[in-house]
Amino acid sequence: MKNLSRLFIGAMPLLMILESCSDMGEPEVLLPQMEVATTSIDFSTVTIGSPQTRQIQIINRGEGQLNGELTLIQDSSVYALQPHGVFALSSDDTLSAELTFTPSAGFTYAGQIVISSDDLGNPEHMIGVTGVGTALPVPALTISTSILNFGTILTDTSSQQQIILSSTGNDTLFISSIDFDLGVYSIDATTPLELIPGASRLLTITFQPDVAGTFSGSLTIVSNSPSTPDVVSLSGAAETPVSYAGSIQPVWNASCGGCHGSNGGLNLTSHSNIMLGTSQNGPVVVPRDAANSLIIRRLNGIGGLMPQGGPALSASTIATIETWINQGALDN
Ligand code: HEC
Repeated sequence: MKNLSRLFIGAMPLLMILESCSDMGEPEVLLPQMEVATTSIDFSTVTIGSPQTRQIQIINRGEGQLNGELTLIQDSSVYALQPHGVFALSSDDTLSAELTFTPSAGFTYAGQIVISSDDLGNPEHMIGVTGVGTALPVPALTISTSILNFGTILTDTSSQQQIILSSTGNDTLFISSIDFDLGVYSIDATTPLELIPGASRLLTITFQPDVAGTFSGSLTIVSNSPSTPDVVSLSGAAETPVSYAGSIQPVWNASCGGCHGSNGGLNLTSHSNIMLGTSQNGPVVVPRDAANSLIIRRLNGIGGLMPQGGPALSASTIATIETWINQGALDN
């Protein structure tokens, strides 16, 4: 109060006042001194919509009251400063302001906090502000294929195919179940299965039918991916193997044995003997390739009909022999 009464004396010019003051000894002028440690704030990457905060402290180290104003400058409205506007700080007092960053899109946002003050040594303090918005973490499942075909196999045998499950999102993928709608299919995986972003898993699916037929099924994978459930279509067929002992050897016995016994040349008395073929012409049965098996050609009359002198075997009997060869000429 003493200072004020000295400064405002009528319309006296300021210089004169100061002079008159100096005449009366040193005036007691209490000066504010603003201290702000923060010069920049980098929020780095922040998930869209999730607020992050940082503190800014303004300290008055001087002896007089500090008067100032806190202003936030930004192009968008992703930053919020609390408090802001004018402030007054007594000596040794601290003002804590909180800056909040809530990105609304996947952009880099720049801003600036300007603190103006009546500290003549530090009339304006700038704080550069930056932050980057990133998309919400979302898990994703990518499967190497959506269709698996196991072809045709024999009953009581099995066929395997592989698939790769990849975690292609930016959040951990949790697979809660992997199920088949048909019992002929199975997989070498136990659930739950956890895959971090970028990880993948190779799995083997087994098709093992015990009866003949076609098996159109599906593999259903349930996870926390937005695409759940993910489905892989499965197909496979099974046929009953032709029995050599029950359907083939009896044909040789009935129609060929008289000439193809154990007295030299082609021996058709057993599976092992027929597979030996002949010393002259080599194999007569090529497993899985009936068309190129000499025995089928001769049964069809190519290069001389067998049985020699006829009559030819029935078309259905020849077809059964072809199936036996194409199934691998098993000794079953
Ligand atoms: C009446 C006697 C006779 C009967 C029955 C007969 N074959 Fe032959 N087969 C022969 C003779 C002889 C040859 C050798 C001459 C030739 O290749 O034509 C031969 C040759 C073959 C060959 C060619 C391989 C070789 O030895 O050079 C095949 C394969 C064959 N027979 C299969 C059969 C089958 C299968 C049957 C029964 C469905 C059958 N044959 C019935 C007499 C017979």
